[in-house]
Amino acid sequence: MAITTSAPGKLILLGEHAVVFGKPAIALAINRRFRCRVEPSEAMRVNGREIDPAKHPYTRFIIDEQWEGGPLDISMDSEIPSGSGLGSSAALCASLSGALMAMSGGLDLAECARRSFSAELGVQGSASPIDTSAAVSGGGIAVNLEGQDPLWEISRGERSWSIGAIEVPEMTLVVGYTGVNAPTGPLVAKVARYRESNIFARDVIDEIGDLTLEGAKALEAGDLPRLGELMTANHKLLSILGVSCRELDRLVQAALPHSLGAKLTGAGGGGSMVALTESPQQACEAIRRQGGVPFIVRTGEPGVTVDEA
Ligand code: PMV
Repeated sequence: MAITTSAPGKLILLGEHAVVFGKPAIALAINRRFRCRVEPSEAMRVNGREIDPAKHPYTRFIIDEQWEGGPLDISMDSEIPSGSGLGSSAALCASLSGALMAMSGGLDLAECARRSFSAELGVQGSASPIDTSAAVSGGGIAVNLEGQDPLWEISRGERSWSIGAIEVPEMTLVVGYTGVNAPTGPLVAKVARYRESNIFARDVIDEIGDLTLEGAKALEAGDLPRLGELMTANHKLLSILGVSCRELDRLVQAALPHSLGAKLTGAGGGGSMVALTESPQQACEAIRRQGGVPFIVRTGEPGVTVDEA
């Protein structure tokens, strides 16, 4: 019996990096998906080859941790560039964990979110469950927003994250991909070191948490100009934390005259930026002129789904 699943990529609207330290953050699933087909087989294979742990660390981890059955033939296919800050590894974890659960009894979303997070954490060394939760739940999610009904709660050591669904108003977001591949783990580690060694870094992380709470209110009120201002302010704080780069700053600067706000999204160091805009074509053109790859995203996308069983 073969199972096919898919899960969406995501963008972080506000709060990346600070969320690793338990601060609030907001993420939206986007219309780029990761697909996974799993079928019992006579040998363990990924896309027709033996699993190479260097090439497929998440797959290796998930099979080792979550699968007790016989060999599997796994095929994977992604519309989300890896290292783009758009949650490709989280979508992989959600779709593969989801497929294994569907093969052995049934897909439970809260459990899939926990398993997907364990895999990201296991491979990256440190992470928050924001990306994997967005890939599992779809739509819009807020992490550690007081007063909301949680979809699920996840904790590790001294940190805990409560994940809830949020309403997302009609708005247009343009993503600009720098083309620079930036793995998340080293950037998260860099912020952790900075937080330990610089007395202002903790304040900056707190400020990101505060502006994310403001952003959640702006989203709820449908106040897009305010949301845009907060996104731009968030970019400045992320730059102070040292996770922006020349390419990202260039795309943010280019998009701003045509946008309500713009910021890097995801881990930074390359990857992508996002602009909230009422002039998407002009924002796309400005991003393209600076060497970025722009696309208008659709939000409100479904989370992990079993597409064929
Ligand atoms: O760049 P991405 O898609 O891996 O996003 C990472 C978001 C961080 O806050 C930087 C890390 C995390 O796990 O929360």
